Formats: sequence, C-alpha cells, structure tokens
Amino acid sequence: MIETFDFQPGCMIAGKYEIVSFLGWGWEGEVYKIREKETRIERAAKFFFPQRNKKNRTVATYARKLHKLRSCPILIQYHTVETVTFRKEPVTVFISEYVEGILLRDYVRRFPGRRLPLFQAVHLLHSLADGIEAIHHLGEYHGDLHSENIIVQRLGLTFELKLLDLFHRGRTTGEHRFDDLCSLIRIFYDVLGGQKWYAKQPRAVREICCGLKRSLIRKKFRNVSGLRLFLENRDWSV
Ligand SMILES: Nc1ncnc2c1ncn2[C@@H]1O[C@H](COP(=O)(O)OP(=O)(O)O)[C@@H](O)[C@H]1O
Ligand SMILES: [Mg+2]
Repeated sequence: MIETFDFQPGCMIAGKYEIVSFLGWGWEGEVYKIREKETRIERAAKFFFPQRNKKNRTVATYARKLHKLRSCPILIQYHTVETVTFRKEPVTVFISEYVEGILLRDYVRRFPGRRLPLFQAVHLLHSLADGIEAIHHLGEYHGDLHSENIIVQRLGLTFELKLLDLFHRGRTTGEHRFDDLCSLIRIFYDVLGGQKWYAKQPRAVREICCGLKRSLIRKKFRNVSGLRLFLENRDWSV
C-alpha cells in the first residue's frame, strides 16, 4: 500500500512534467506544484493513493464534476489525467490549475487573536455564498467545505477565492445543498473566533449563525441565495 510518494523537486512525471514543490497532503493523496516541460506552465498535480481511488471512480467523478462546473469562477479548472507507475503500481495523477494564494486556515492565523475582524468575515462569507450559489444553480454541490479546501487568492474589493476538493456522495439532493449552507455558516462562526467569542458577537452574527443549530438555520434561510441576500440587505453599521 502506498502511504507517501515523497517526490523531490526536479523529478520528472510522465515524461512531461517536472516536480516544483510539495503543496499539501490529504486523505486521498498528495498534491505537488508541477511545471509542464514544453510550455513552462505551472499546474497542480494530485497523486491519488490507489486505495482511495478504486477503479478510478474518485478521479472520474471529480473530473466530470469540475468539467460540468467549469464556468464557476470559484472552482479550480480541471486540465487532464495521467497514469504513472510508482513502485510497479499504476497511480492516477489529477492535473488542474495551480492556484497561487494562501489557505483560509493560514490566512486567519495571521490576524491578531487568530480571528478575522467582523467586516472581513462578512465579506468572506458573501464571496463564499456567491460562489456556492452558482454551483447550486448548476445542480451540484461542493460537499466538503472547510478552511483547508479554500484558497484566498486576493483580497480586493471582495475576496477572490478558489475551492478545492469537491466531494461526491451521489446524486445532488436538497440536503446536500443544505449541508453546504451549514458548512458556510460554520466557517463564518470559526473565522470569527468560534465558541469563545460567540456570545459577544453582534446580533447580526448571531442571527446568521443561529447557534449552529441546523433546524434554526433551515427556518432562517431557504438556501444559499437567501443567505447572500441577507448579507446584502442587512444594515452592518451596528
Ligand atoms: N490547485 C491547487 N493549487 C494550489 N494548492 C493546492 C491545489 N490543490 C491542492 N492544493 C494544496 O494541497 C492540499 C491538499 O489538496 P486537496 O485537493 O484538498 O486534497 P485532499 O483530498 O487530500 O485534502 C490543499 O489543502 C492545498 O494546500
Ligand atoms: Mg482537502
């Protein structure tokens, strides 16, 4: 069983790509920044542990989902799939756009008290809701929203974000979309300092978080669009 690939910078992959650096590690595999030899274009390559990608099902569903959602600006762009041999085993490599930026988890840690100021948190939530709304409109869901699957690319007038790592639990249902909505609210709650600060948060924050109770969230927001509209119409001056 492969538990790590441990590729070193300079190593060639499929005769076409050079390993630039290690980017991250997760349950499904390892992600490296790579450079296409012919064009010198940088990409991200996720090397799947074969045991997490039986019959290539995980990779095929992920690729098809990203392809279907290719017009959503919040998602990374899928490029191609390669198969390489590693210790005599075939390994699937998922190649996508390389996103420059910082993981939301690390972004939040840069702030005093490791939490975002209110206005930044509200803008972050708005950018997320706006991006997820487009995915839901196309009949899909993300399924694995948390601060290690969100890259902050740029903070301008709004947050420019990219989401990684969509999860597939079968055909989309309203419950999947509702899970995405609850995950967004959970991220908002966490970036504002979590439970420790919750009681001291302004009323508007508590109105959104609903104490993280799913039944209350369901009553408050019909869907992600409802959350986005709430953010746009709320008076944030108090
Ligand atoms: N396209 C990308 N651009 C930049 N960094 C990436 C990209 N894809 C993944 N990463 C980095 O690799 C880590 C793991 O990738 P991810 O796709 O979330 O895999 P896992 O399913 O193993 O969590 C991410 O948290 C991120 O730090
Ligand atoms: Mg991940």
